[in-house]
Amino acid sequence: MKRTAEEYGNQCEFVLKIGILNGGGDCAGLNAVTRAVVKRAEEYGWQVIGIRHGWEGLLEVETMNLTFKDVQNIINTGGTILKTSRTNPAKRSNGPETVIENVKKLGLDAVIGVGGDDTLGVAALLYKKGLKIVGVPKTMDNDLSSTDFTFGFDSAVEEATHAIDNLRTTAESHDRIMVVEVFGRHAGWVAAYSGVAAGANLIILPEEPFDLDEVTDFTKKRYEKGEKATTIVISEGATLKNLKTVDQGKVDEFGHVRLGGIGEFLAQELEKRTKYDIRIAVLAHHIRGGQPSAFDRVLSTRFGLAAVDLIKEGKFGMMVALRGTQIVPVSLEESTAKQRVVDPQMLAVTKQVSY
Ligand code: F6P
Repeated sequence: MKRTAEEYGNQCEFVLKIGILNGGGDCAGLNAVTRAVVKRAEEYGWQVIGIRHGWEGLLEVETMNLTFKDVQNIINTGGTILKTSRTNPAKRSNGPETVIENVKKLGLDAVIGVGGDDTLGVAALLYKKGLKIVGVPKTMDNDLSSTDFTFGFDSAVEEATHAIDNLRTTAESHDRIMVVEVFGRHAGWVAAYSGVAAGANLIILPEEPFDLDEVTDFTKKRYEKGEKATTIVISEGATLKNLKTVDQGKVDEFGHVRLGGIGEFLAQELEKRTKYDIRIAVLAHHIRGGQPSAFDRVLSTRFGLAAVDLIKEGKFGMMVALRGTQIVPVSLEESTAKQRVVDPQMLAVTKQVSY
C-alpha cells in the first residue's frame, strides 16, 4: 500500500512506486546507481521495485523489493544485483504493449531504465507509447552521445591499462610482438584510452579502417631499429581497409553481430609477413566485470540521484547526462539517435603517441 506524503513529513508532493531495470551488457557501477536510486527515493517516501533481467522482467514480470538496507553496501560491487539481459521487447509479439500493461499491473508510477543505446532506445520507444520512463546511461564502451562519459568506462580502462602494462613487460623480455584485442565494437574509446595510458606502440580503432601493409611496415621498421618488442592495441570492432570484418557470426535481438577475432587475424597475418615471434591477448569480459573505480562510483551515484529527481520533476522521456562537470537532463530520443565514436582530437592523440 502506498504511504501518504504526510507520513514522510510532506517531503514530497506525491508518493510513488518506481521500478528500476538494467539492460544490455553489464558494467561496473550498476549497483552504485541502484543504491543511489533507492536512497533518494526513500528520502521522498517512494518505494523502489527492482525489475530483474532487464526488459525480460517486464515481459515475464520478475521483480524484487528494494530498501536501502538491501543496497547500502553495494557501492563497490561489480555486476548487477538486478541482473541484466539483451532482451528487446520490440522484437517480441506485442512486446511494448505487454511491458506497458505489466508496469500498470505492478502499480509502477514510473520506471528508470539503466542501459546503453539499445536499452535507452527501447525506453525512448516506450515513452512515445505513454510509459513514464527516464534513463541512466551506462556502458563500458562509452559510445553514447549526449553524455561526456558513461559509467563503466573508467573502470574498464583501468583494468585494460593494467593488463597492457603487464603484457608490455613480458613482450619486452622476449622481444615479441604482442597484439592486444580490446572490447569496443563501433567505438574504440577503451582501446584509445588504455592504449595511450599504457604507452602502446600502435593503436588501431574501428573509427579508421587499417591497412595490413602499413602495420607490417611499422613493425618491421621498429625491429630494424632494434626495437624488437612491439605492443599493438586493436579494438575488437576494427576493420581492414577494403577487405573484411572479423566476427563470430551470431546476432543478438538488437541486430548486433558478436565480434571477436580481429586480433588473432592480425597476429596471424603479421606472423606470415614478418616471421617475428607474435602473441595475442584478448581483453574482454574481465575488463567489463569487477569492482567500479572511484570515478565510476561517484558518477553512478550522481546519475542515480539525478534520475529520481527527473521523475520528481516529471521530466519523462529524458535521461541524465554528464556535461563537463554537471549532471543535466537530455532527451532520450536525441541521445540514442547516433553513436558517439572517438572524436578526431582523441584519434589524433592515439597516432601522435605511436612510435
Ligand atoms: O558492453 C558492450 C560490450 O562490452 C562490447 O564491447 C562487446 O562487443 C559486447 O559487449 C559483448 O557482449 P556479450 O558477450 O556480453 O554479449
